[in-house]
Amino acid sequence: MKRRVTKAVFPVAGLGTRFLPATKSIPKEIMTLVDRPLIQYAIDEARAAGIKEFIFVTSRGKGALEDYFDHAPELETSLRKKGKKDLLATLKNTNMDSGAIAYIRQHKALGLGHAVWCARRLIGNEPFAVILPDDVIAAEKPCLQQMVEAYSETGGCMVAAMEVPPEKASAYGVLDVKEDMGSMVSVRGMVEKPSIDEAPSNLAVIGRYILTPQVLKNLNQIKQGAGGEIQLTDAIAQEIEADREVYGYRFRGQRFDCGSKAGYLQATVAFGLAREELRDELASYLDEMKAVRKAAQ
Ligand code: G1P
Repeated sequence: MKRRVTKAVFPVAGLGTRFLPATKSIPKEIMTLVDRPLIQYAIDEARAAGIKEFIFVTSRGKGALEDYFDHAPELETSLRKKGKKDLLATLKNTNMDSGAIAYIRQHKALGLGHAVWCARRLIGNEPFAVILPDDVIAAEKPCLQQMVEAYSETGGCMVAAMEVPPEKASAYGVLDVKEDMGSMVSVRGMVEKPSIDEAPSNLAVIGRYILTPQVLKNLNQIKQGAGGEIQLTDAIAQEIEADREVYGYRFRGQRFDCGSKAGYLQATVAFGLAREELRDELASYLDEMKAVRKAAQ
């Protein structure tokens, strides 16, 4: 089945414990890279790929996400009165058309597969995308757009993939490659968080997926997998067992793991350096830091 992908699921129910205490009162998806929250990067990428309906799977304490994508009449009026057109323009991408965004609660933290399954009624019988906002990808052509273009040729299920150092593979879903076609691989199997010995390769799944509605049906029966959680990887792997195609897509771009502190800081520096108004000041500070470190050694 090859069809246009117009719906995307954003699993944002996680507690974000790695960023406590900050995430005690703000959702981790609201944490900012320069001046845009992580979730904004995910939404912008989805829009660029042609997504029209945005489905958030949330949990308690995520109200700030709903406010973020709502209109802010007082703020907007005040900016308009002061003639602050630039600032008004920055708010434009945070607004959603009425009905374009939906929020569903995942009542229990049972895993990524379960979170996606919570959106099944809104997705219905069409292919859909999943974006994990922790994985921020800087790319000339946004990653999901690259995938949607590739998917229009292949159909099936597709996951973003990237080579990681072999000792890191056990932090990911890992692909067992059937045929390597360069930017695309066809997949023979997928394992969630394998031990180093069991990892079939070092080609890891990164948080972008295009999935068939059959994956949601598979999730109806999936048992707890790695970490005692309902794993999306296992539901996709079932497609392979049923002889349906699953592809890994080696995207062009730089991925930052913003679920980790080091990755988040790296992303902050990279996106800071990408901004014209910050570049010079930040770059000369980084040079200074290098010199200080050298001197201290
Ligand atoms: C999730 C997926 C995993 C994937 C990873 C990418 O894991 O379960 O297959 O490789 O995202 O970031 P998590 O990082 O939520 O443990």
